[in-house]
Amino acid sequence: MNEKFLKKEYLKKISQLQKYDFAYYDKSAPIIADSEYDKFKKDIIDFENKYDFLKSPNSPSLVVGFKPSKNFKKKRHKVQMLSLSNAFDKEDLINFEKKIINYLDKKNDFKIEYSAEPKIDGISASLTYKNGKFVTGLSRGDGKEGEDITENLKTINDIPKNIVEKDFPEEIDIRGEVFIKNSDFKKLSSKFANPRNAASGSLRQKNPNETKKIPLKFIAYTFGFYNEFQINSQTEFLKNLDKWGFKINPLNKKIIGIDNLLKNYKSLENKRDDLDFDIDGIVYKVNDFELQRRLGNVSNAPRWAVAHKFSANSGVSKILNIEIQIGRTGALTPVAKIKPINIGGVIVSNATLHNEDEIKRKDIRVGDIVRIERAGDVIPHITSVEVKKRDKNSKKFLFPTKCPSCGALTIKDFNFVTKKNDAVRRCSSEGFECEKISIEKIKHFVSKDAFNIEGFGKKIVENFWNLNLIKFPQDIFDLDYTKIKKLDGWGAQSAANLKYSIDLRKKISLNRLIYSLGIRHIGLENAKIISKHLKNMKKFLELSKINKIDELLNIDGIGETQIKSIKNFFTNKTNLNVVYKLNKVLLIEDSKELTKNGPLRDKTFMITGKLTGISRAEAKSLIEQNSGSIISNVSKKLNYLVVGDKPTKRKLDIANELGVKVLNQTDLIKMLNK
Ligand code: IVH
Repeated sequence: MNEKFLKKEYLKKISQLQKYDFAYYDKSAPIIADSEYDKFKKDIIDFENKYDFLKSPNSPSLVVGFKPSKNFKKKRHKVQMLSLSNAFDKEDLINFEKKIINYLDKKNDFKIEYSAEPKIDGISASLTYKNGKFVTGLSRGDGKEGEDITENLKTINDIPKNIVEKDFPEEIDIRGEVFIKNSDFKKLSSKFANPRNAASGSLRQKNPNETKKIPLKFIAYTFGFYNEFQINSQTEFLKNLDKWGFKINPLNKKIIGIDNLLKNYKSLENKRDDLDFDIDGIVYKVNDFELQRRLGNVSNAPRWAVAHKFSANSGVSKILNIEIQIGRTGALTPVAKIKPINIGGVIVSNATLHNEDEIKRKDIRVGDIVRIERAGDVIPHITSVEVKKRDKNSKKFLFPTKCPSCGALTIKDFNFVTKKNDAVRRCSSEGFECEKISIEKIKHFVSKDAFNIEGFGKKIVENFWNLNLIKFPQDIFDLDYTKIKKLDGWGAQSAANLKYSIDLRKKISLNRLIYSLGIRHIGLENAKIISKHLKNMKKFLELSKINKIDELLNIDGIGETQIKSIKNFFTNKTNLNVVYKLNKVLLIEDSKELTKNGPLRDKTFMITGKLTGISRAEAKSLIEQNSGSIISNVSKKLNYLVVGDKPTKRKLDIANELGVKVLNQTDLIKMLNK
């Protein structure tokens, strides 16, 4: 793995994020849609989780909001203002709850009660009250330090200035959201793009009289520092807020179970357009304060809360055509070409139809009027068909039984795990026999995690392919630069640059090479473990002997599916030729020994049960990367037994008997992060 490159890419992303933050927090004029911002942030966090050497003090997993602006005096929050982690779908919620249950070490059927609160899209503020008097109001700032916007906050009618209730704590920070109602926003002839920006801009006026002109509202939902109160749950706290004279959200609910959270989510999502304030999701908080206390925080967000985000906007348009794209693994993906429409500021003209089954299930046809949603996942998709608007003569879409590129039969694989046919139909050609698959395979070959050839993008692959400059990966290392120099848009310098970046990659690690070949089911992780097991290219080439492949079955993480796929790969002559030719032109480095000085050195581990969000194989490789070693039975030699979901009871019992330290996933992650 090219650490230096990954670090560079990572830091680039972080600096881009800071630009987004500056525009959003300091200028109150965002330059990217909120949903895209969330996705961008999530990508960075996923990236960090994947490569533990990626670290930055400005990481979104550590930073909340943005540094306070220079217009106001800065002040420290007595208790940090945290951020929330995001959930986008049911799976994320299941994981959120699972992690809580694991962390609290409760049984799987443990019922968690949540306070579900619509997430108003405004500006958060922390109001300090001393002896019932509102004394200081701070913006969130970077979570640790905010801007002193007391005078501006005082202009807001919803914020009580004096509270006389006897049970109101002597000192407390009340936290909530400052926002502007949509109807009020419409009345303003405003330079702001949306109500949130208007609220933010108005709240941060230097002159409070300017703030006063805009009818800001405040809804309270949590607290920071407090000296004492006898309240045991969030819903009880919300009731108290109401009693003390704060506005609370009338749509707050107490809910048990993920299915009920989802019902509430759907119903609120439907109501969303009719509300007089913008909400961008629902915040779920574990209701019981004692459980909240036990769960604590992960760097900048509480473990006990999550923001379930609404998907981005949708729009209605017409399907002009359904095209079939062929992917690297031969998968046929139907794509709807739609009459271009603007959804949330982005012009959309394609929508994925996922696969054949999806078209059948929704009976999607050319000419249909459909609703298209653009969610955080970039490629827009169709959520519903307006059947009533359908032309009488419209015909069902027939999915091709032959590959539109090479004419081979299209097939659906039988999935041995689900005991069903896959939803995805594929071209039955093996790799390079099909033109479209070949092009995709070469795009994969030069891509970031594979050969990572700088300046060799997808468009260039297509262009070179059409010009017969490349037909197989090995052709990349034998390009006709005199021809390239003369191409439109090229010249001596750019051809030389390309040659330079290609030559740089002639030395490559075995795991990267294996990944680059694009063997089905052999992704980055599998390529790494195979290369670690085989150690060198000679051994990899030996896999072309059938009986050698089965040996891979001994590797944790490699199963029948992967073995079958590798066999298919090596029984194809063209594939073999590609591998042999590459071996001739490249210097393929042996798999490296792991560092011996990581934080887990001299420690032995064993994992039992299912981990969340990470496979056992990946966890083992993480342990080994940090110099720990894995052993396969519980004995006195074992230092740590890592316990996931449904562990083997016997292993746990023996570990307890022998006094072996038992860790959960979170403990392990903490050790890895030390
Ligand atoms: S609780 C520790 N409750 O969401 C919990 N936040 O990304 C953090 N927000 O800065 C805050 N409605 O601006 C909480 N009912 C609610 C909320 C809410 C909106 C915002 C708030 C916060 C952001 C977290």
